[in-house]
Formats: sequence, structure tokens, C-alpha cells
Amino acid sequence: MQPMLNIAVRAARAAGDYIARQVNNIPNLTVESKSPNDFVSQVDRQAEARIIDTLLQAYPDHSILAEESGTQGDSDYQWIIDPLDGTTNFLHGFPHFAVSIALSHQGKLQQAVIYDPLKQELFTASRGDGATLNNRRIRVSKQLNTRGALLGTGFPFRAKQHFPAYQAMFAGFFEAAADVRRAGSAALDLAYVAAGRLDGFWEIGLAPWDMAAGALLIREAGGLVGDFSGEDRYLETGNIVTANPKLFSDMIRRLQPHLTDTLKA
Ligand code: IPD
Ligand code: CA
Ligand code: CA
Repeated sequence: MQPMLNIAVRAARAAGDYIARQVNNIPNLTVESKSPNDFVSQVDRQAEARIIDTLLQAYPDHSILAEESGTQGDSDYQWIIDPLDGTTNFLHGFPHFAVSIALSHQGKLQQAVIYDPLKQELFTASRGDGATLNNRRIRVSKQLNTRGALLGTGFPFRAKQHFPAYQAMFAGFFEAAADVRRAGSAALDLAYVAAGRLDGFWEIGLAPWDMAAGALLIREAGGLVGDFSGEDRYLETGNIVTANPKLFSDMIRRLQPHLTDTLKA
């Protein structure tokens, strides 16, 4: 394993094991609301501190972009961290959440780890080296189009102005797909696309830390990741579509009639 991936795995396991222990302590947590429907507890913050400590101990010069503490440092190497993806699930004891850590170098994603501490599933990828789940190689599914596919999605619960457009997209996909899942952790949704458990996925308004690790996992597993125009700007726009190359084209085509000007940008 690449040394930088190794450190990322160590950080993800430390945070994930801490989060899993805190599941028994949920009623005692103080929960704050960062904005409407956007919650944070000391578990998110503590998990993030553990991750950053581990990474900076090994690479003191690297910079950080982390959900709860923002940016620090100035380096070509940047760690992009979501310490607990699926906070709403976690706070309800709904057992589906993960730690997500990616490393980018000069803007290119290099290493990725997504760790589900309850199922003890560790998804990893290094640029050019493929993607794995618990050390076994994973690939995206072979589903050729939306008809019959199992798709994942997230609802735009923070940016409700997009709900009419989202409903139209949903109706289009739902009518054709076998079924659609909204499991509540974008990072795990992306890891599941990489592992072929979901055929495809789309969501409006994500943050870079929700997507960075999952995007590299999917690319290394043979999939495509794009914004709603099929271009590469998903980390900037927050709007993401992903699947194997054939299904990806079909999903992009089906999205087009529903895009508002903001979603086209
Ligand atoms: C959220 C989850 C959710 C997605 C949201 C994300 P958080 O992350 O990934 O599935 O729909 O857009 O913000 O807040 O739990 O880290
Ligand atoms: Ca997140
Ligand atoms: Ca989070």
C-alpha cells in the first residue's frame, strides 16, 4: 500500500472506531445546528481532530480542507476530510455512516479512503492502482442503462429551492429504474457505486468532502464521475452524477430536460 494511503487508513480507522464507540452515547451528545437541517456534535469535531492529528503527524507540511474546522496550511498536497458522513443517520442511531478522507496533489485526487466503522468495510483507492474493499479489488457494475438499474441519490434538504427540479429528475429516473435508494451518506453511496452495489448515483449541492474520496474510488473502479453536463466540475458545482461509462451517458441525457440555469452552470 502507498505510504500516504496507509496513513489515511490509519486516520480513518482511528476516527471510525471512536465514532462506533460513541453510538452508545448518542442521547448524551450536545447537538448544534450549523444551518437549517445541518447538525454537528462533538463526535464530528473529535473525529475530525483525530484524523487531522494523524495526518499532520506524518505530513506536517500538508494542507487540510475539513468539514468542521475549514482550511489550514498551504501546500500542493491537500487532505479533504469528512470526519462523519451521515451525521443525521448517526444522531438517530440509524446505522449507516462513514469517515471519508482524500488526498489531492496539485488539484488531482491521489488517495482515497472511505471507512464504515459499523460494518467494518474499508474502501481504498490510489490513483492508477485500482480500488479495493477490505483489500479485494472492486469494479463498477455492468448495467447498461437506467432501465432496470438500482440508483442511489440524496435529497436537496439544505437547498430546498432545487426541490422542483429534483422532483422532475427523480420522476424521470424512478419511472425507468428498478428502484432508487436514499441511504443518507453520500460518501458511502459513492463507495457503493465503486463496488457495483449501486449502478449509479446523482445528488444536487454536495460539498467537496462528501465527494472527493468517493470520486477517486469510482474512477479507479472503472466508472465515470461528472457534473450535470457530464463535465469534470462536480467538486466546484456540488452537483454529481456517476456510474459506469454507458449508464453515465444515459443518466446525463435523462437529466438535461430538468436542469435550471443554476444547475446547468
Ligand atoms: C451529508 C450526507 C447526505 C447528503 C448531504 C451531505 P453530512 O453529509 O452525505 O447523504 O445528502 O448532502 O451533506 O452532513 O452527514 O456529513
Ligand atoms: Ca458529508
Ligand atoms: Ca460530515
